[in-house]
This record gives sequence, C-alpha cells and structure tokens, in this order.
Amino acid sequence: MATTHASASAEPTRRDFLFIATGAAGAVGLAATIWPFISQMAPDAATIAAGAPVDFDLSPVAEGQIVKLFWRGKLIFVRHRTAAEIKAAQDTDVASLRDPEPDSVRVKPGKDQWLIVYGNCTHLGCVPLGNEGAFHGWQCPCHGSVFDTSGRIRQGPAPINLPVPPYAFTSDKAIRIG
Ligand code: FES
Repeated sequence: MATTHASASAEPTRRDFLFIATGAAGAVGLAATIWPFISQMAPDAATIAAGAPVDFDLSPVAEGQIVKLFWRGKLIFVRHRTAAEIKAAQDTDVASLRDPEPDSVRVKPGKDQWLIVYGNCTHLGCVPLGNEGAFHGWQCPCHGSVFDTSGRIRQGPAPINLPVPPYAFTSDKAIRIG
C-alpha cells in the first residue's frame, strides 16, 4: 500500500498548490529498505501501476489549499474547501448546470470540506488552474473552461464535470483512493 504525505514545504506565494510526487514505486522501494517485512506484504510496483489503492494523509492540507497527487497515472486534485467555497457549491442552482450534479453527491457525507476530483480538464485534458475563473474553482488555461468549487463545469467547452474518483475515508483525516 503506497502512502502519500503532503509536505509543508510549499512556497508561501504558492501555498494553494503543493505538487506531490506520489512515487508509488518509490514508496515500495523505501519499504524494502526500511521495513523488509512490510515490503513483503506490499503490492509490487506493477500492481500499484495497475491501480492498487493509494492512502493519503489529509492532515497537512490547510484550508484553502489544493494538493495534486497521482493514482493510476491520473492526476487528482484534493481540495480543502473553505466555508465560503462550500456554501457557493451548495447554493448553486443545479438545474442551471450543464452537467447537473448537486454538491452533496460529489463529496462524502459530513466531509463537505474535502473535494477530491480528477485533475484533467474534461475538454481535451489540460490541467486547470486552481482558484481561477469566475467561480473561483478552476480555470483551464487551454480553452478557458471554468469549473466551480465543486469541480462542476460552468463555462467553456468542457462537456462534463471533473469526475470524482473512487475513494473512501479511512479515518477522520485520511482517505484511500482506489
Ligand atoms: S482542454 Fe480545458 S478547455 Fe480545452
């Protein structure tokens, strides 16, 4: 099982983006070095590449931050939403959306502050920029698609919302993706 930790080493000017190298294969290598017994029980790199679950510790992710990580080679955004971002997402008229989804189906019950979505634009796959655009969610630099604080498409050519990957909370401050 690979475990990913956010580091607190982000530059203050870019604190909303911590670039996380999940390093699933590296995590297995580390386990082999430090914990030989555990390494025997861990999935090998090929298994991880094929989609083994990834554990992620949410505790270092400050409110307002967006962290990037990778699972199955796909970019994933982990966003610790502010109260205002949650309210904006919940107050949106769902019927007005291109891809109508209430915020409540895009987060886990009682965990409104955590939004976990795939991080590639649903138009042609570019990486949207966080806290940009008219809805302060993300804006894609390629053709201008705008996503809200629930990752829902609001403007531009992207046809659907940023999808939510399969994940579950394993504790109050930890998730397992996959
Ligand atoms: S790839 Fe994002 S708008 Fe085209």
